[in-house]
Amino acid sequence: MKKFIYDGIVTGDDFCPRIQDTDKLLSYINDSTNVLLIAKRRMGKSSLIHEVFENRLDKKKFITIYVDIFDITDETDFVKSLYRAVGQSLKLDFKLVLQTLKTFFNKSTFEISIGQDGTPSINPKLATRDIDELFADIFNGLHEYLKRHNLKAAFCIDEFQQIQTIKKPLDATLRKYIQKHHNISYIFTGSKRHTLAKLFQGQKSPLMGMVTPMELGPINQDDFYKFAKKRLKTLTKDTFINLYNHAEGESKLVQHLCRQLKLMSDDNQPLDEALAIKGVISEVDSICRNIFESLSPNGRKIIKMITEKSHTLLTKEMLQEHNISKSSAQTSIDYLIKEDLIFKEDSNYFLDGGIGSSFSLWCHWKFKGY
Ligand SMILES: Nc1ncnc2c1ncn2[C@@H]1O[C@H](COP(=O)(O)OP(=O)(O)O)[C@@H](O)[C@H]1O
Ligand SMILES: [Mg+2]
Repeated sequence: MKKFIYDGIVTGDDFCPRIQDTDKLLSYINDSTNVLLIAKRRMGKSSLIHEVFENRLDKKKFITIYVDIFDITDETDFVKSLYRAVGQSLKLDFKLVLQTLKTFFNKSTFEISIGQDGTPSINPKLATRDIDELFADIFNGLHEYLKRHNLKAAFCIDEFQQIQTIKKPLDATLRKYIQKHHNISYIFTGSKRHTLAKLFQGQKSPLMGMVTPMELGPINQDDFYKFAKKRLKTLTKDTFINLYNHAEGESKLVQHLCRQLKLMSDDNQPLDEALAIKGVISEVDSICRNIFESLSPNGRKIIKMITEKSHTLLTKEMLQEHNISKSSAQTSIDYLIKEDLIFKEDSNYFLDGGIGSSFSLWCHWKFKGY
């Protein structure tokens, strides 16, 4: 029996079809257009990219490079991740890897190590500390490889906002290579929408205008219901829609709630949406509590105000009622937006989940009492 998977990247049978989104991303890649894939957290950005890379792109024409830079610590670390990802994507015969890498890349040597699960991985040893030279080596080497084999590439850098944690500004250098190569489609994505938007759309940012934004919304309700029903035969549409709405369409949370229902069904209990929600909340409670407690008193007040009203304008009267001055409210709001805990749309503020949790569901339960 198929499962509800609510963690990590899903592809193939575990990926609920998103036909329009896959087609759109595919057509951008085919045109070598650079894309900024934007969505709320846990909507399925990384999964969509993996699904397209693994199951939709023509492998005779494309190589796919995927690098997640969530845990990079500095610029050399970043460069090494790029070398590794590019090296691994060449899909060469094991014996030829080192030889080929040597042909195309000169500023690093490579070693291959075999992991515990038996898969080989490439370890670059940088021959210089000059980041510009290293960048040139990676991007020109890749370009040369593609040219020689008459291939194109799709190159995804996931969690791209982490580039900001590196002291040395790399965006101008990146721009140079993104602009230069027309047989590569770069896909940037990540979990901090606000930071990503600033990196690519900020007036003074070197990366401004380098990408076509693609907004990824929730999975279509009917498609998601069909997908869920295959995993839980007794699931009715009404129950599913109720949960989908509670999850505000967030793919991960929808799966998590459905899994909770499945557990009830395995125990021969009737499916109860409220119990499913309670089950999920108790699993995420400590993470969400930590996020909430780490906020300033004003930050907490603002989160509560937004939760109580579902969305809100944060008017002068409301701020007065809660005893917050306009300027300190603004400081807190800026912080909450930066941390992606809230976002603004048409002057209204909305909750936007927190790291690895279902923050918004938790806030509703805590402050509105589902
Ligand atoms: N197309 C999909 N079909 C089914 N579940 C999905 C899909 N996309 C995402 N999910 C669910 O959401 C979770 C998070 O997906 P992920 O791709 O990591 O999101 P993001 O990169 O946007 O944070 C997955 O573990 C899965 O439970
Ligand atoms: Mg992701």
